[in-house]
Amino acid sequence: MAAVRKAVPLRLVGLASLRAVSTSTMGALPKQVKIVEVGPRDGLQNEKNIVPTPVKVKLIHMLSEAGLPVIEATSFVSPKWVPQMADHAEVLKSIQRFPGISYPVLTPNLRGFQTAVASGAREVSIFGAASELFTKKNINCSIEESFQHFDSILKAAQADGILVRGYVSCVLGCPYEGKISPAKVAEVAKKMYSMGCYEISLGDTIGVGTPGAMKDMLSAVMQEIPVAALAVHCHDTYGQALANTLVALQMGVSVVDSSVAGLGGCPYARGASGNLATEDLVYMLAGLGIHTGVNLQKLLEAGTFICQALNRKTSSKVAQATCKL
Ligand code: HMG
Ligand code: MG
Repeated sequence: MAAVRKAVPLRLVGLASLRAVSTSTMGALPKQVKIVEVGPRDGLQNEKNIVPTPVKVKLIHMLSEAGLPVIEATSFVSPKWVPQMADHAEVLKSIQRFPGISYPVLTPNLRGFQTAVASGAREVSIFGAASELFTKKNINCSIEESFQHFDSILKAAQADGILVRGYVSCVLGCPYEGKISPAKVAEVAKKMYSMGCYEISLGDTIGVGTPGAMKDMLSAVMQEIPVAALAVHCHDTYGQALANTLVALQMGVSVVDSSVAGLGGCPYARGASGNLATEDLVYMLAGLGIHTGVNLQKLLEAGTFICQALNRKTSSKVAQATCKL
């Protein structure tokens, strides 16, 4: 039995058999999905030990080689708040930019935006939330005040020709307020979209959502924003990220955030764990016949590299399965 397994790599058996699965009962699924790789930012921001800059730069290089179309590189936030991202300018200046790949960065305020642009950023992300208490803990202001910061970033970005993506956190629950209503998510998302964000990423920051809650929340947001401008960003704390993402795909979403090796977490969201693992997302999408342009083998190598550098085990089930061979 063991000899048979060795002769036929599980990786190939798995993908080949998944490709044969009929998707006729799956509902309408997008033909293509854009994956936004958040590992170098979301994945590393929560690490206790400071990750050396060259390791971050090499990770971004390996992810670029794997064909991820968007790689969130770092955050221009206060080093007092998130020491792990203190080398933001050095990271952004050191990376090799591959043609056709975008390397956005997080900017909470105008100061962060200006430093990011001076360091070479061509796309930034602003990050708000559908929870008052989380907004206060994360960016030290109210939701209303956060819109004022975002407005000054969006105005400056428009003048500089910089694209701005918007995050809304706590869309399926908040570590401080508990349940968050879909109406509140829709209100915050609509405001950020109408201010000029080209895409809104809906974050289940603490990974508490389940597929029914995802459906209800997305239904409310889709009343206000075209589905083509929506992305989902699922943390996997309760093991629901892949299921929640599949529901979003069935509802027409075609942009998905994920993190290599399932790294991630927000330092200001108690109990938040890693994101949906990019390897697991790519594997599922390949099985559904959905194009991503990502080379799974190279992605697995990037995951192995960063897990060795961090001295930790991967959270990707696909990586765990394939490394047993
Ligand atoms: P504050 O303390 O209210 O701001 O922080 P401040 O203006 O009083 O500044 C405090 C200090 O930070 C000052 O330094 C500023 O100069 C400095 P001091 O004078 O004391 O020496 N500072 C900065 N330094 C560098 N870059 C800047 C910057 N701004 C101020 N841009 C602030 C307000 C927004 C700065 C702070 O709260 C902050 O940095 N928060 C970031 C928190 C964060 O990064 N959270 C994780 C990302 S969000 C996330 O993970 C969720 C997401 O993945 C989606 C999901 O999962 O749902 C996106
Ligand atoms: Mg996140």
